[in-house]
Amino acid sequence: MIRIGVTGTDTGVGKTLVTAALAAALTRRGFRVAAVKPIETGCEFDDPNRDGARLARAANETRGLAVVAPLTFQEPVAPMLAAELAARPIDLDALDRAVEKAAEDCDVLLLEGAGGLFVPITAAVSYAELFARWSLDVVIVAVNRLGAINHVRLTIAAARAAGLTVRAVVLNQIGGDGSDRSVGDNARLIALLEHVPIVQLPRAPTVDDLAVAANLVERSGLVDLIAAPAAVPPSV
Ligand SMILES: Nc1ncnc2c1ncn2[C@@H]1O[C@H](COP(=O)(O)OP(=O)(O)OP(=O)(O)O)[C@@H](O)[C@H]1O
Ligand SMILES: [Mg+2]
Repeated sequence: MIRIGVTGTDTGVGKTLVTAALAAALTRRGFRVAAVKPIETGCEFDDPNRDGARLARAANETRGLAVVAPLTFQEPVAPMLAAELAARPIDLDALDRAVEKAAEDCDVLLLEGAGGLFVPITAAVSYAELFARWSLDVVIVAVNRLGAINHVRLTIAAARAAGLTVRAVVLNQIGGDGSDRSVGDNARLIALLEHVPIVQLPRAPTVDDLAVAANLVERSGLVDLIAAPAAVPPSV
């Protein structure tokens, strides 16, 4: 089974867009995909525009949001703080069970975090630990702009320190007026320094058309990277 955790260098960098596009593309290729947002803050359970609902539509989910996006909090803050403000502690064992139930009978598990890898869930656990606990390889999404090299390298370091395999970095073209001199070289430098596959995602003409989004991630090479088995390190 393919198990991927999608994280970002920040909030609002395109994690949901990338996860939804991957879900749509892999579904189109014939994979049975679970696209999961285990904890979502800043939303109501039945908000049709929330990340969980977007992911469910992208994966043609029929099992209902309670299966693929089980835990919501109203306050738009990190899960640990949202849980504190709601006086509703996050039950990690229940979350484990929910994720495994969502992944049941699927070929691919795509799971979107919130913010970045060190966003706290509880005092002891952040997304890095959750991804390790759920045996997820990592896809890192970052905006392709000045600062991306540092942000991506920090996230790769955090992932590797947690024992996670980085399957791909997505440099996402959101915004920008063409004056940022770093944009054309960020991918090359990160690949050179970190030895990870990098794909570049252009600005989407529309963000609600799943076929368009699926085409973009196919063309970027990301779907091939995810659909291929992870490289096995040579034995020594
Ligand atoms: N390649 C792109 N082209 C055009 N718009 C994009 C692109 N990537 C992301 N966006 C837009 O940028 C905004 C942020 O993207 P998205 O919601 O996917 O980020 P996120 O990292 O999932 O955010 P959050 O941390 O809130 O979950 C959205 O309005 C999305 O439609
Ligand atoms: Mg999101």
